[in-house]
Amino acid sequence: MDFLTLARTRYSVRKYQSRPVEPEKLERILTAAQVAPTAANIQPVRLLVIESKEGKAKLATVANTFSAPLVIVVCVDTKAAWHRPMDGWSAEAVDASILTDHMMLEATDLGLGSLWVCYFHADKLRDAFNLPDGIDPVNILAIGYADTKPLDPMRHTTTRKGLSETVVYETF
Ligand SMILES: Cc1cc2nc3c(=O)[nH]c(=O)nc-3n(C[C@H](O)[C@H](O)[C@H](O)COP(=O)(O)O)c2cc1C
Repeated sequence: MDFLTLARTRYSVRKYQSRPVEPEKLERILTAAQVAPTAANIQPVRLLVIESKEGKAKLATVANTFSAPLVIVVCVDTKAAWHRPMDGWSAEAVDASILTDHMMLEATDLGLGSLWVCYFHADKLRDAFNLPDGIDPVNILAIGYADTKPLDPMRHTTTRKGLSETVVYETF
């Protein structure tokens, strides 16, 4: 499948089969994160993989991950992340999100569904999973076999803004 077809095929899955994700597929998803670029190649992102019943029970108190069998909490070491010298802007959320996107699209390529979740209680998550000081959760990625009908890959012609609304050339 070419990249654009893969990207068009992905959609947010909010209903999962209970079937677990095979360890070799998890390995590929984590490898997709490993090869992702980060600012100055600092690699400040840390991944918390949750598959156990106990882990998911704790997770249910901080976020809705729609009973996905595999959940990856994408965290960042805020002190290690690259900061732009001119104004101190931190690339931490960008780095975390590039890894998240790589994993999400690898999951699609493996025939898995996924959901990117930012609506969560960060403080509760920190307590429940013993996040050390300076390690902040940025994204949660739920992954599993979809229990829904695939969406039309061409739906974006109506569900996304047209390029004429979002792209300017040369200057605003
Ligand atoms: C940064 C980000 C945060 C998101 N947070 C949530 C969330 O907390 N809960 C949820 O159900 N979906 C969440 N989504 C999924 C979006 O709602 C979804 O990607 C968007 O509506 C487009 O639909 P599609 O993924 O099916 O193309 C999030 C997506 C992104 C990129």
